[in-house]
This record gives sequence, C-alpha cells and structure tokens, in this order.
Amino acid sequence: MDRGRAGGAADVDIVVVADGDDFTDLMKGPLRRLFGPRTTRVESAAELRARLDGNARVVVADARARCMDSVEAQALVREIAPEVSFVLIDADRDELRRRIALCEQVVSLGALVAQVTHEINNPLQSAAFNLDFALDVLRGGGDWTAARHVEVVSALEDARTALAQASAIAGDLRTLARCNDGARETLDVRTILDSALLAAAHQTQQRARVIREYRSVPWVSASPGRLRQVFVNLLVNAAQAITKGAAEENAIRVSTSTDARGCAVIAVRDTGCGMTSDVAGKIFHPFFTTKPPGTGTGLGLAICHDIVTALGGAIEVRSEPSRGTEVRIVLPPSSLGTGSEREP
Ligand SMILES: Nc1ncnc2c1ncn2[C@@H]1O[C@H](COP(=O)(O)OP(=O)(O)O)[C@@H](O)[C@H]1O
Ligand SMILES: [Mg+2]
Repeated sequence: MDRGRAGGAADVDIVVVADGDDFTDLMKGPLRRLFGPRTTRVESAAELRARLDGNARVVVADARARCMDSVEAQALVREIAPEVSFVLIDADRDELRRRIALCEQVVSLGALVAQVTHEINNPLQSAAFNLDFALDVLRGGGDWTAARHVEVVSALEDARTALAQASAIAGDLRTLARCNDGARETLDVRTILDSALLAAAHQTQQRARVIREYRSVPWVSASPGRLRQVFVNLLVNAAQAITKGAAEENAIRVSTSTDARGCAVIAVRDTGCGMTSDVAGKIFHPFFTTKPPGTGTGLGLAICHDIVTALGGAIEVRSEPSRGTEVRIVLPPSSLGTGSEREP
C-alpha cells in the first residue's frame, strides 16, 4: 500500500493517543499545519492497532494520557508499522497551551509582515509619485498659471493623505504588537467603558445619541489600556457606520451584563449602515476595510480580536445591512470576585 510521505504536501492520517478531546483540540492547529486536518483519536491498544493496519501515517501520543501507556503505544508502532512517525508530547496542559500560542503568534506574524510591507508600500509609492510630480512642475519653470497651482496643490494634498495613511498603519501595528503586554489588573469594565466613551465622544456625539445600559457585570482581569483600546475601536466603528447629520435619529448603545456562565458581556450596538454577510466574514482580517484611505486602516477589529482572545475571551458580530450592528465581547470573570452593583 502506498502510504504517502509524512510532512509532504498531501494531507496524511494522524492518530492521536490521548484521554478525551482536550489534548487533540490543543494540538489541532500545529498538526494541521504540519500534516493536514485528518485527525483521529484512539484510547486503547486495539484501536491503535486497527489504525496502524489502516491509513495512519503519524502517531502523536500524550505522555500523560491515562488511557494508554505511551511506551506501549510506541512499541506497537515499531512492531506493526515502523514507517509511521511517532511523536511523544510530554508537557503539562498549561505549558503546551503557552507554547502553542507562541507558535501560532509567530506564524500569524509572518503572514502579517508580508501584508504590512504591501500595505505600507502602496501609500509610500503614491506619496513619492505625487511629490515627484510637484517637484517636476516646480523645477520646470515656465509660467505659474492658476491651473498649475491647482495641480501642484492637489498632488501635495494626495501625498499628505498617503503619508498619513502609512503613519496610521504604523501606529495601529504598534498597538497590535503590544496586544499581549500591559500588566493585567482586576477591573470593572464599566470604568473602562466610561473612559473609552470620553475618548470617542468627539466622533460619537456628532452622529448619534449615546446610551449606556450598565447592568451588573463580573470583574475581569485585563490591561486597562488594552481594553480601553478595544472599546474605543468599537465606538469609533459604530460612529463611522452612521452618516453625519441625524444624531437624534441614531443611537449607539453600550451595555454590560453577565451571561449564564458568569462571564462579563460588553456590547456596542449601533443603528448605522450595517454590513453584508460577505463583509462580516472578513472584518477580523488585518487590513480589511471598506473605508477610504485616511478613515480606516482595517486594523481596528484585528487588534480587538487579538486583545480579547489573549484574555481568553471572545468577540462576535451581528449585523444587518441598513439596520445596524452589534459587537459583543465576552470575557471570563476574574478569579478575584464580582464587581459591585452600579446603577447606570
Ligand atoms: N459598527 C460597524 N458597522 C458597519 N460596519 C462595520 C462596523 N464595524 C466594522 N465594520 C466593517 O468592518 C471593517 C473593518 O473594521 P476595522 O477593523 O475597525 O477597520 P477600519 O475601521 O479601519 O475599516 C470596516 O471597514 C467596516 O466595513
Ligand atoms: Mg475601525
């Protein structure tokens, strides 16, 4: 039988020896990248034997599994299918989780760098082109007509917009790089929301009534600066989704609550333009934006996603074109207790 080649381009069958799905779920990302997505879990020598007789190409064993001794698993592989690769993972869950998270970060950083180069290069080239044009006109001498004046001013303005875009991307990337730092504190998300509302007031007030609906919410463990950044990004997006000039008819609702599992829920809801499911499927991709240069870098929600997931939380979006959007953030409660009740 042609068993293919482990680590080659084609997906191979991976057998995981582990108790329950915890270990397999953790290893899914790295295994998928190395060998492909076809993973099966086994818990006994009989099950492993059946797989080794079948299509198994790689066996990954959790050294701490209780269902089956990993030395026995390795011996079985040697005996039945010596061409199958055997990988023993000997690390406690937290250590494994930490190492995998680090690898995932490096992988996504690599992809990001390629994109960043492209995204920053575009405005820089456009600025250079416009500056060259302005210089050529100025060096060329000749009569300084009103039409020339308009052309040069417009080229310089375009160059300035492009440079501002490159600089905004650099600024957002700085934040992205720092997503996981910032000392964590046990905090009441409502305090951070208030501070974010103040920071975004200039943008929100022109476009909508801002309504706070703060219900009791557990304390969370997070860097106040990073969390504030998340909320400001959501508020600015909500404001930008609403056309200026009808502030009374539009609302941005900011609410806090506790879900059934005791997690903190923070929601920002707007009555703005909403988005199609096609747009909604891409909003967390770095550099995805539907806004003109100078208004959006496409990094806001990518930053929010990184910060929230680094805190063990989740971010979800519900949206309907021309009706509005709701972004919900769910954060695990801090182990240090619950926030005091506070009336809105
Ligand atoms: N509240 C919202 N209403 C409608 N569309 C939104 C909202 N928030 C985000 N989006 C969409 O998601 C895209 C990505 O958002 P974001 O990552 O913050 O980047 P940016 O705001 O710079 O475009 C936006 O360009 C927009 O199309
Ligand atoms: Mg944004």
